[in-house]
Amino acid sequence: MTDEAMQGFREWYGRQPTGVWSAPGRVNLIGEHTDYNDGYVFPFAIEQRTAVALGDRDDRVIRVSSSFAADPVQIHLDELAPDAVEGWSAYPLGVAWALGEFGADLEHVRGVDLHVTSTVPIGAGLSSSAAIESAVALALDEHWGLGFDRPTLAKVGRLAENRVVGAPTGIMDQSASLLSEADAGVFLDCRSLDAEVIPLGFTADGLSLLVIDTRVEHAHATGGYAARRASCEAGAHALGVESLRELGSHDLERAAEVLDDETFRRVRHVVTENQRVLDTVRTLREQGPGAIGPLLDASHVSMRDDFEISVPELDLAVATAQAHGAIGARMTGGGFGGSAIALMVDALVPVVTREVLAAFAERGFREPIVFPVRPSQGARRDA
Ligand code: GLA
Repeated sequence: MTDEAMQGFREWYGRQPTGVWSAPGRVNLIGEHTDYNDGYVFPFAIEQRTAVALGDRDDRVIRVSSSFAADPVQIHLDELAPDAVEGWSAYPLGVAWALGEFGADLEHVRGVDLHVTSTVPIGAGLSSSAAIESAVALALDEHWGLGFDRPTLAKVGRLAENRVVGAPTGIMDQSASLLSEADAGVFLDCRSLDAEVIPLGFTADGLSLLVIDTRVEHAHATGGYAARRASCEAGAHALGVESLRELGSHDLERAAEVLDDETFRRVRHVVTENQRVLDTVRTLREQGPGAIGPLLDASHVSMRDDFEISVPELDLAVATAQAHGAIGARMTGGGFGGSAIALMVDALVPVVTREVLAAFAERGFREPIVFPVRPSQGARRDA
């Protein structure tokens, strides 16, 4: 993938790049729609990565090209602004703009040429966008000598996503992409931004985590995601708290009295999901990964029934995996499409894969893409 990025760079720009950086996509083990409620999440990086080859320039122009879009885009550094970029270039150029918002002196840097390649499936709920943002943020930070730490680079990526791409997402995906380590998950408190890297031990315990990409496409810049976020904010406001993070299960009785049924169920998802993240971390430490299944299952039920962000394809993927011996399964990511995950003993991988494909065919759903993922290292310089 490093070679591909370098070769693509040479083809587009006719010279050698000065460096290559990469950042991974992610799977969220548990903690969904909790990040923008100041709550807890527990994602990990996957092996699929986005690589960025960078070469310096003598002027103040930034050019971006990629292996997946037809034309390169260019802009003068003085013209960078949220509404000055569009299409996929909003991700890399949005990051360049956002670095300036965090205090980088963009008036005194020179331009760059960037070439992006990726193996993170797009629209699969595996954070292909955070992978681009994180790789570009790390590359520009190092090339321009900005000295931002990784939690700050995660915020830079989120700002690009919120203001330039226009998706009102939280901090989880960029944090997973920047902070992950091999065979571990990132337990992140989204209020303090304290992050703890916790070994998952899947391989040692003979477990595999399967991703089932339903190929139902979703976009968080429009529709349901923003509506869920608004419901959470309305619920917090009605209950007199700054964020839903401040509520525990003992508050749910009062919430049921104060809120309309729909808002109550949105709130209940967030409150119980935060608890499930804490329980997952504790269970993992005390009993190992083989014991976290019921928490994954309960998370899916909560997203399906209370938060209402699942779709029939995700429900079928989860139910089929569970029926054929998975330890636990749930949809992962923002919802309305994308992927489910299922944890199982290694030997069940071919069985569950076969059964999921058969179940989708029988229901007349589009053929899903099923593959195991391994918790992998976060963003890094590769060359
Ligand atoms: C998307 C967003 C994240 C998070 C998840 C839901 O992946 O980018 O910030 O809100 O949805 O947990």
